[in-house]
Amino acid sequence: MRPYATLRATMASSFGMCRLHMRGRGSLAKCFQKIDTCLQRKVGTNVVAAQVEAPGKEKTEEKEGRPSFFAVQAERQEQAERSVLISCQSKTNEKKFLKYLSRHGDIKKCFFYESYGVYAVVEFANQESVASLHEATAIPRVNDESTVPFKSRLLSLKSLGPADPTNSKAGQPCQPQTTIPLKELIQRLSREESIDQQITCLTEAYQLTEENIRLRFLVCSLLKDIAAAYFPECTIRPFGSSVNGFGKLGCDLDMFLDLDGISGRNIKMPKAGLSLEYQMKRANSERAVTQSILSVIGECVDHFGPGCVGVQKILNARCPLVRFAHQPSGFQCDLTANNRVAMKSTELLYLYGGLDRRVRALVFAVRCWARAHGITSNIPGAWITNFSLTVMVLFFLQRRSPPIIPTLEHLRDLAGPADKCVIEGNDCTFVSDFGRIQLQDNTETLEQLLHEFFEFYGTFAFNRMSINIRKGKEQNKLEVAPLHIQNPFEPMLNVSKNVNGTQLDRFVALCQENSWLLQESETRAPRGDSGGNTPAPWGLATLLLPSQIAGIRGRKKRKREPASARIKSLLESLKTTNHQKKS
Ligand code: GTP
Ligand code: MG
Repeated sequence: MRPYATLRATMASSFGMCRLHMRGRGSLAKCFQKIDTCLQRKVGTNVVAAQVEAPGKEKTEEKEGRPSFFAVQAERQEQAERSVLISCQSKTNEKKFLKYLSRHGDIKKCFFYESYGVYAVVEFANQESVASLHEATAIPRVNDESTVPFKSRLLSLKSLGPADPTNSKAGQPCQPQTTIPLKELIQRLSREESIDQQITCLTEAYQLTEENIRLRFLVCSLLKDIAAAYFPECTIRPFGSSVNGFGKLGCDLDMFLDLDGISGRNIKMPKAGLSLEYQMKRANSERAVTQSILSVIGECVDHFGPGCVGVQKILNARCPLVRFAHQPSGFQCDLTANNRVAMKSTELLYLYGGLDRRVRALVFAVRCWARAHGITSNIPGAWITNFSLTVMVLFFLQRRSPPIIPTLEHLRDLAGPADKCVIEGNDCTFVSDFGRIQLQDNTETLEQLLHEFFEFYGTFAFNRMSINIRKGKEQNKLEVAPLHIQNPFEPMLNVSKNVNGTQLDRFVALCQENSWLLQESETRAPRGDSGGNTPAPWGLATLLLPSQIAGIRGRKKRKREPASARIKSLLESLKTTNHQKKS
């Protein structure tokens, strides 16, 4: 995220449209349907069940049969390799378009979205189709400029000859792929009947869609084609919220250039006899190698990468990276290399998120609440990051009685030989198979958990204690940072080192405020129609209202009134707003 936010133009996919068109498309439709069902079963979508069932029952169903992080990654990567991204005209006739492309082979999936024009993601059944398509694709003719002769899988559809009159009715109803505005979310939430349903509704509105995830893998795959000019064995993998299950539509695309296959790590040397090894250039440190690789790839992306703009090489950061905007997808991209710990954190978050549906739902609610109140920000600074906030939610869930999720130490104890992983001397081992994890019988509702989360952090001894999900227990702080969250895999590091006292105070004050609000009967129950079919904000919707933020900010300067008085005035202000709306 952060810079180039403007490049995130509205993106849309035609998920609905795909289904719409599937109806009349015989064998192609059946093929799509088969693939959709198969994907939902095998890869698993992020979709949380809309119905609110007893948490105990879901708990088992949630994780059983869920594929491991690597299985999902491998399948999605393979899909992406068989896919192309095509810029289309806004009135492209989908039927003709698919017929034209199917000359090169069966199409498994196609969807449209909008980002500076309409784009289609087309997934072929076989990779040979992509080669065939490349054969048939022309080199653009430009008059005053020259082109870089690099044949990527980002193509443009051109319509030759006279305009097709049937096109006027055609076109794809692209659906936006960015999140709905907060105001609209508040209205939607207010229509729900319970706080649990509100949290589920928020998760569904904000989470990445199946199409958006596919597009993220495709962008990694397109980038890999560029990096492969230097490192044919490389892979570019997404990490962070794009794949850990906690991503919100519009989040950045964190990528990792994986050169492990040629890094010399994990290589067993023969004990006797002759052997050959490559002569390789040497550098002073692994960091220096990472910096020079990223520098070269960054130049390549800048000069040869179609659709990649605003390339910045940020090589002196703790974790060197190349940042750019990928215009055709609208993603803000961060490319790193040799960042295996972050990949491991991503896998850990994916695991935790898949254990129980309440984990992702609570993280989405807390992240959205934090964003609405300016506790987190797109701009780097002293704010709490989404990653830190997620770890705080996980820690809270470990502290429930009985715990909803196990500690990282327990996950390490359950690991099999294939899970063993040590990175730079740090033990990053934990179980990857969901089936081996037994959960305890906690039946708390999302409403209770949200309330308890605010209560927990509203009264947490941040001045003395550190948050540690490895042990699932708070520990004495080893450094003076206002907020200390131990890095799960690098115990000496604090993931929230950047957070200052003011930001932590705001977070604590808001937690206290929201804990009180959730105790108030006026906040806890639906409040009926406020006129014009707009239900009055209640429950989670109340907690997202900006008026609460103003209250907190304003109060910092004034002498604090008793909590009960403040809550009363907040509720009074809500009532007044509703009354004004009615009249
Ligand atoms: P958003 O991009 O805000 O949606 O969330 P994100 O989880 O993707 O966070 P971000 O892009 O800042 O970082 C990407 C990933 O890098 C995270 O998911 C973590 O796996 C990892 N990461 C980020 N910050 C830290 C940190 O301070 N320490 C460690 N060990 N890993 C981090
Ligand atoms: Mg990210």
